[in-house]
Amino acid sequence: MGKLKGKSAIVTASAGAGIGQTVARTLAREGANVVISDAHAKRPYTVAEELSGTYGVKCLPFRCDVTNREDVESMVEMACDEFGRIDILVNNAGIDRPEPVWEMSDETWNLVMDVNLKGAFYCCRAVLPIMIKQRYGKIVNLSSVVAWTGGEEDGAAYIAAKAGIQGFTRAVAHQVGKYNINVNAVAPGLAFNPFLSKLRPREYFEKIRSNFVIKRDGIPQDIANAILFLVSDDADYITGECLCVSGGWFMH
Ligand SMILES: NC(=O)c1ccc[n+]([C@@H]2O[C@H](COP(=O)([O-])OP(=O)(O)OC[C@H]3O[C@@H](n4cnc5c(N)ncnc54)[C@H](O)[C@@H]3O)[C@@H](O)[C@H]2O)c1
Repeated sequence: MGKLKGKSAIVTASAGAGIGQTVARTLAREGANVVISDAHAKRPYTVAEELSGTYGVKCLPFRCDVTNREDVESMVEMACDEFGRIDILVNNAGIDRPEPVWEMSDETWNLVMDVNLKGAFYCCRAVLPIMIKQRYGKIVNLSSVVAWTGGEEDGAAYIAAKAGIQGFTRAVAHQVGKYNINVNAVAPGLAFNPFLSKLRPREYFEKIRSNFVIKRDGIPQDIANAILFLVSDDADYITGECLCVSGGWFMH
């Protein structure tokens, strides 16, 4: 406990029931002040209040659609005004629209690429001048094992975007290493949350479970633990990497 005392963080899409909120909770538990940022209008307020009350840190709600440049820039400005610095950025926002590529509309392709990939670009572009000035920063971008496997029934846009996140991570890591900024990615396998079971048929999960070496489903806390390591000073000498957290579903 207290690994991130005095640090401040932004976690995008952190008001849902999955990885984002669990990451925000884990960073708050470790003493960081956290911006609870999400496209949802109301949920960031509830989550921020709960986390501030539980962990005694400052959690600030902010409605931010990561595909909207103005939203992202206002969020970063607010975080900087309130916290004085931004040490950690977790680009968690991501959506999938599983449709066969020959039926995929321009709108689906653009939306999925925008949320998963352009959102990470917008957030990095807004936060990096601050981190460069501080000569300190930790960024983690969310990829997925399907970037390697090609997916089970995931959409081509999602897989392209999650593979793109890995290239983007390496490119940014190269550019900012000299400013003492680490940029890494985490690739979850399955991190089960209640919404996923509504999105996919039971057979989908049974098929992917057969690949797990560790014979249980992943949970959001498994991913948050890996992200906590990467944003902590224990990972100071790690950059440009993509850490796969999939219970051995995919090994590379
Ligand atoms: N859950 C998994 O099994 C799994 C597997 C591989 C990769 N991932 C990746 O991990 C990340 C988190 O996934 P999760 O399923 O745990 O969901 P999550 O609970 O972390 O995120 C859901 C939240 O995202 C918000 N959101 C949606 N579009 C947004 C936008 N444009 N801007 C800001 N917020 C937006 C929603 O309002 C919701 O509150 C995603 O990038 C996902 O692609 C998840």
